[in-house]
Amino acid sequence: MSRTNARSAGLKRSGGLALAAAAGAAVLAASACSSGGGGSTAAISPAASVATSATSGSVVWSASPLSGTGANDARTVLIGAFEKQYPNIKVTLVSAPTDTDTNRATLATEISGGSSTPDVFMGDVIWPAQFGAHQLALPLSSQLPASYWSRFAPGLVQGASYKGQVYGSPLFEDQGFLFYRKDLLAKDGMPVPTTWEQLESDSVKLVHDGQVKYGFVWEGDSYEGLTCNFMEYLTDAGGSPTNRAYSSATLNTTAATKATTFMRSLITSGASPAAVSTFQEPQAMNTFGGGNAAFLRNWDYAYTAATTASSGGKLTAGQVGVAPLPTFAGASQPGYSNIGGWNLYINPHSKNVSADVTFIQWMSGPAAQEILSKGYGFIPTVTAVRDSAAVVASNPVFAVVPHTRLTPRPAGTPEYPALSTAIYENVNAALAGSSSPSAAAAAMQSAASTALSSSSNGGL
Ligand code: GLC
Repeated sequence: MSRTNARSAGLKRSGGLALAAAAGAAVLAASACSSGGGGSTAAISPAASVATSATSGSVVWSASPLSGTGANDARTVLIGAFEKQYPNIKVTLVSAPTDTDTNRATLATEISGGSSTPDVFMGDVIWPAQFGAHQLALPLSSQLPASYWSRFAPGLVQGASYKGQVYGSPLFEDQGFLFYRKDLLAKDGMPVPTTWEQLESDSVKLVHDGQVKYGFVWEGDSYEGLTCNFMEYLTDAGGSPTNRAYSSATLNTTAATKATTFMRSLITSGASPAAVSTFQEPQAMNTFGGGNAAFLRNWDYAYTAATTASSGGKLTAGQVGVAPLPTFAGASQPGYSNIGGWNLYINPHSKNVSADVTFIQWMSGPAAQEILSKGYGFIPTVTAVRDSAAVVASNPVFAVVPHTRLTPRPAGTPEYPALSTAIYENVNAALAGSSSPSAAAAAMQSAASTALSSSSNGGL
């Protein structure tokens, strides 16, 4: 915790460009979640042979929906811009499942079965340990020169590494934010809540007064997104899920019970609809973007999605505010934001590695990074784009980035999928009221301990 605190203080002191400062954030957060040694690209094993990047060929790209629909679908826009620059490389999109767990399971089955497609896949920042340990991704550090990695905001490369090899080329970073309806708060003279308790009572009041259908919507389904939400409350309550070496779980604690008790109380108090226990990002997003909730916990893209008609948003820019997440009363401000994001990985069985390398280099270059940040509100991974004043000014989310305080998931172990399942299944049972928060904490501890003790199983 002390490292993230130090980072937060440093950013406030510097008061510089939002995203330039956020680069420092990523260093500390990602180094905290990585299992590998060292804190810089210097720890990367040198490339055995550097791939030639081709200017012709084809790439089958697997990517889950990012933001936007139809012609405005971010993936379609990116492919169009890439093919304009490389007219002799044809990119075919395979739309992957929105749910990161289903996406991962599908890819792991295909790749471990020897499939040569997809050539390139967009994969979660929590995958490098598992995919690296099980040869499900090509070590990119064996394909790209060491100089390639210096373009990225510090920490992201470390987070994409496992045992000295980099497996993912960072595409965009995600952080959790609080989105709120400025117009509803203004009407009641309510300040933006900075504690969870205040957020809960504001939500209850707004719903009770008939000003909005629901108070606070978030991701409570039994899936990875619930682990992200839980990590925020858990860290706010002073807890952490494992020890640093990932050799033991630390989940049967007062902090874990406090976090789960509060999450359940959001439902029983009426601050959140009972349906949040079945919500993933799209359901939470659509509820808020459709004007049916006062508050939303979601990732960076939610501001653009809520205010862009072609992305399904029905709200105006003047109606939507963004702030760091709250914390528990009495804890230091602000609350913790979980760190997420997506990288590009190459299938080790791909027959088009040279074209794949061209594609991923372009996607981690300025043109693609500007499309993702200015067009859709994703936090760029490339320092030069983060530092651009035009990018920082393009979206109110980016001005909040220096004020967030990050907490990573415990993803530096190949056992992470089972560890996360131990968390989200039991928190979800407590949300649904089928187990008490303390029983859920005990069950999390037991299942997480089992996961961490299986040293050879990557949880495929
Ligand atoms: C977002 C994050 C990703 C996380 C997922 C959970 O896509 O970028 O890291 O695992 O949400 O739903």
